[in-house]
Amino acid sequence: MAESAKNIVWITGATSGIGESLARLCPWPDTEVISVSRREHPDFESVYFDLTDQASWDAVGEHLTERLATFRGERAVFIHNALYYWGRAYQGEGDHQTHVDEFLANCVAAIALGDHFLRAAVPAVDAEVDVGLVQMSSATARIVYPGYAIYGASKAAIEQWVRAVRAEREDRGKGPWVSAIRPGFVDTPSARREAELPPDTHPGVPGIAEAVRTGNMLAADESAALIWNAIPEDTKAKAVLLFGEPVGVTTQ
Ligand SMILES: NC(=O)c1ccc[n+]([C@@H]2O[C@H](COP(=O)([O-])OP(=O)(O)OC[C@H]3O[C@@H](n4cnc5c(N)ncnc54)[C@H](OP(=O)(O)O)[C@@H]3O)[C@@H](O)[C@H]2O)c1
Repeated sequence: MAESAKNIVWITGATSGIGESLARLCPWPDTEVISVSRREHPDFESVYFDLTDQASWDAVGEHLTERLATFRGERAVFIHNALYYWGRAYQGEGDHQTHVDEFLANCVAAIALGDHFLRAAVPAVDAEVDVGLVQMSSATARIVYPGYAIYGASKAAIEQWVRAVRAEREDRGKGPWVSAIRPGFVDTPSARREAELPPDTHPGVPGIAEAVRTGNMLAADESAALIWNAIPEDTKAKAVLLFGEPVGVTTQ
């Protein structure tokens, strides 16, 4: 699509699951969708990004800075949705470095990208483009699931970052708007892999496996439709949006 599209949307993890549906189902006419992932997207411009490689986070920041310096359309939205997934292990068990890597990928990368986007957005915000950032969260930000210590801590940290950044933007009197979305339990490759894990490292597995077996989950396209429907009015109004019901809950 031409650089003069009315809207521009970046989606990390646009090659699979919720991100793939979001990219395919963007409801706004005349929108340039850019996939930000490790794999090339077959249908959209692709910007290389690896959650485990800080140099690639910075390269995405440079790309955003360049594009938003001159973008003067109606709306510019960045959806950080990519997920680093390797399996599950309790803290104090499994491989220590894998836990550290997961935290860097699922928490630090999200916050670094968010900071890059806020900096890059300044000229577009000043030019009165409607600029927004969505951070994909999860019910694990609130609900305790054994086996999800790093994942849940990452999502909780991201949500608190969103709350603080909203207060900071309010203090400065200008955007971008920033919001977190908990999508509910969604039928994606990573959700299906979860259902196959051994229950001794992931006690939610029986409930998750049951949800997969009975289809008690949102299709990725349904999830994407709910998310698009919420952007930008609901995402402007609320720090955290919730869709669907969590499954496989084993504790509070
Ligand atoms: N599915 C659910 O039930 C559920 C529930 C709550 C929250 N969420 C959240 O929703 C988001 C999407 O989840 P999903 O279930 O749709 O995941 P998914 O189907 O497993 O897709 C993950 C995406 O992340 C990308 N990715 C994986 N490793 C990466 C890496 N090292 N660097 C960069 N990108 C990487 C993949 O693209 P490449 O391989 O091309 O890089 C892929 O497009 C996540 O933030 C997840 O926490 C999902």
